[in-house]
Amino acid sequence: MNETLNTIFNRRSFRKYSDRKIDKKTIDLLIKAGLSAPSNVNKMTWEFIIIDDKKILEKIATVTLYGKMTKDAPIAIVVCGNLDRALPGEGADFWVQDCSAATENILLAAHSLGLGAVWTGVYPTVDRIRNVSKAIGNVPLNIIPLALIPIGYPIDEEILSEKQLPTDRVHYNGF
Ligand SMILES: Cc1cc2nc3c(=O)[nH]c(=O)nc-3n(C[C@H](O)[C@H](O)[C@H](O)COP(=O)(O)O)c2cc1C
Repeated sequence: MNETLNTIFNRRSFRKYSDRKIDKKTIDLLIKAGLSAPSNVNKMTWEFIIIDDKKILEKIATVTLYGKMTKDAPIAIVVCGNLDRALPGEGADFWVQDCSAATENILLAAHSLGLGAVWTGVYPTVDRIRNVSKAIGNVPLNIIPLALIPIGYPIDEEILSEKQLPTDRVHYNGF
């Protein structure tokens, strides 16, 4: 099958990681995938924070109920929106879509490189934004974490149920 479609169809969330480190070249590819995302008016409102410091990974896991697996991941990428780069007025919130596109690009790149990753939602939950920013330590107020992506080599034993595609959500020429 077409390699790109194969990656899209087979990507799954992985929440258990082996101890194997991820080399710098591979991390650069993940970031390049994020930077290659489409963005509204090409504003590129994203910022990427790469965390490979075990202490910070553990701190993030401690302050996030939903992101406990971060403590076992060799790295996490926090995709953030830079509000200073956002459009003025009603287009301001397009940063959320820019960052979501970048997040999905990173997940797909991770899968294609044999890595396991999971999108853990941060924005729009106020507590999650505050806790993740605080755990990282020096995130300015105009930089809003949208997604925390723990990434590592998956543990073989992680059992994934088969994905059921909800084809009833598809509508032609009207709802
Ligand atoms: C916006 C968003 C937020 C998510 N937040 C979490 C989360 O906080 N913790 C988690 O374990 N998974 C989270 N996920 C992953 C979903 O649980 C997962 O994508 C969904 O169950 C489908 O499984 P799949 O990714 O294997 O296809 C999130 C996914 C999205 C898109």
